[in-house]
Amino acid sequence: MKKLIAVAGIIFLFSCAPDKSKNAEEFPSQPAKSAVEEVISDPTKGLGAVKNVTLKIPLEKDRVDRGLAIYEMKCSACHKLTDQRVVGPGWKDVTKKRKPEWIMNMITNVDVMLEKDPEAQKLLELCLMRMPNQNMSIGDARDVLEFMRQNDGEK
Ligand code: HEC
Repeated sequence: MKKLIAVAGIIFLFSCAPDKSKNAEEFPSQPAKSAVEEVISDPTKGLGAVKNVTLKIPLEKDRVDRGLAIYEMKCSACHKLTDQRVVGPGWKDVTKKRKPEWIMNMITNVDVMLEKDPEAQKLLELCLMRMPNQNMSIGDARDVLEFMRQNDGEK
């Protein structure tokens, strides 16, 4: 019996001996990335850090105001508030076509979205230009989303 335990112990030892090359294959050291590539289980939410957004009715007025200011400063050169496309698509009805999470991930994680999200890629094919990374925080994106909701007639 003792012998059996010893043998089992030896097998155990060998099987657990770290094999460096294999380990390196399974866990490649990730290059540091600022973009988030995490996949959300619901693909219509896009890819990124924004997984769940709770919308309130009525609109949060202070967010709408901040969102408008951001729009005028950073987005209006390429996006109209109608359905007319200039450089990028017009924003009319965007909140009806897309999940809030998708919109916020598009705003905060645009490089990964353009690389991997099928809907974002369709827009890229249409517009033939990559939306630049605007260095938007998640809070900024939430404010812009609230402004978009107002633009779509939400009160
Ligand atoms: C230099 C032009 C440019 C600027 C500035 C810009 N965008 Fe875009 N945006 C685009 C383009 C082009 C697309 C379509 C996707 C693509 O081709 O990259 C797009 C797509 C989008 C979409 C998806 C629209 C849809 O119909 O689903 C959202 C949301 C968006 N942009 C938000 C913003 C926000 C918010 C800002 C400002 C903080 C901004 N964009 C600034 C060019 C721009």
